[in-house]
Amino acid sequence: MAGIVIIGTQWGDEGKGKATDQLGESVDYVVRYSGGNNAGHTIVVNGETYALHLLPSAVLNKNVIPVIGNGVVIDLGVLYEEIDGLLARGIPADRVLVSSNAHIITGYHRVIDKVTEKFLGKRKIGTTGRGVGPAYADKVNRVGIRVQDLFDESILRKKVEASLEQKNALLHKVYNRPAISPEEVSDELLSYAERLRPLMADTSKVLNDGLDAGKVVLFEGAQAHHLDVDFGTYPYVTSSSPIAAGACIGSGVGPTRIDRVIGIAKAYTTRVGEGPFPGELLDEVGEKLRSDGGEFGTTTGRPRRCGWFDALVVQQAARVNALTDLFLTKLDVLTGWEQIPIVVAYDVLGVRHDTMPVSQSDFHHARPIYEYMEGWSEDISTARSFTDLPEAAQVYVKRLEELVGVRISGIGVGPGREQTVMIHDLL
Ligand code: GDP
Ligand code: IMO
Ligand code: MG
Repeated sequence: MAGIVIIGTQWGDEGKGKATDQLGESVDYVVRYSGGNNAGHTIVVNGETYALHLLPSAVLNKNVIPVIGNGVVIDLGVLYEEIDGLLARGIPADRVLVSSNAHIITGYHRVIDKVTEKFLGKRKIGTTGRGVGPAYADKVNRVGIRVQDLFDESILRKKVEASLEQKNALLHKVYNRPAISPEEVSDELLSYAERLRPLMADTSKVLNDGLDAGKVVLFEGAQAHHLDVDFGTYPYVTSSSPIAAGACIGSGVGPTRIDRVIGIAKAYTTRVGEGPFPGELLDEVGEKLRSDGGEFGTTTGRPRRCGWFDALVVQQAARVNALTDLFLTKLDVLTGWEQIPIVVAYDVLGVRHDTMPVSQSDFHHARPIYEYMEGWSEDISTARSFTDLPEAAQVYVKRLEELVGVRISGIGVGPGREQTVMIHDLL
């Protein structure tokens, strides 16, 4: 086993952090390849909770080399805060390697993220407000600032000036906001440089050299398939490519080096921010799922929208990402229901759909068609093997496996690192 990708199969917050941390015990490198500090990955180890936004989750495993790949957008203030927070807790997080090609989120990206959302009003995306979208827009628009630019002051100042020229006109004339001083932005970025120098690396080379030497690299996805800018519920998506193929682009490792793609799926469905969600439960059932599952965002604290497991959503993720395994999380949260519905099809204006509709307009009109499974009442948080689970829970898991068409190799039965039922080895 050499390259292993972990991705979210729904709309984020599936428990990618926990799965990454757990596999982190047996790998050599862990790489974040997309997104920025819009991600929030919570890990619980020996009762201690860690909330990570930029650092790869396996940073907690001291033998792992954590890497931030070129596909990530980095808010350096946030990165340093996160490193310092972990250092204070005895985790040597300052060993992280940062790609020289990664793009930087600056104050103006955060401002533009917020004013754009405000301007959109009812049509807003519900972003995390961290400046992620505008930073990716600048990257594609070829006016972005990269990590390596911080080490050439004159180039940096020119680039910031060029990037701000148009933005200041927009901020001032369209949004009626004060212009942003390019000097102040450059000064702030330059103040980060000294600390960044020992972390900066050609991370693509580091990872490929590692793979050549027989090391194992774990690619930790952020966000999820249905937030992907190409395959997600556009425009209610993030601005990067969280899908498995994004692991190659965002790290500089070729596709032939990826051996396994593990999709993380919650045993039910959640979504934060705006956008279509056919199975959303707006009643007391959704309320109960939210409170039982503690479904409040790690990054913004927003309540997550909840629904039952949607097999069509995970099926599509399985296909596009060529999943080899599924890791089902939060099965313990479903304990106590007499019946557990699964979304097995949609009704779109009277027409049954067994796969996700090809058009977004149809998806907006999709209503869930359920199949009902028997629930269980036993506490499953101490289960460690499949046969420890009550029969109804086993039947539920097997039915999900059948509907999605990918083997379920692990099951989360609690937030703790050890609260996992392993069915097939993932490494
Ligand atoms: P991520 O963004 O995919 O890493 O997921 P988040 O960390 O945002 O949200 C998942 C939440 O569920 C976190 O609070 C985890 O501690 C928690 N969690 C992960 N796996 C399980 C599980 O199997 N059972 C329970 N009860 N909680 C879990
Ligand atoms: P993790 O890695 C859940 C959502 C936002 C919004 C949309 C665009 O913890 O699973 P952005 O700030 O990226 O421009 O917002 O994407 N979003 C997430 N939802 N989990 C995440 O990350 C998310 N990252 C972004 O809520 O709807
Ligand atoms: Mg999260």
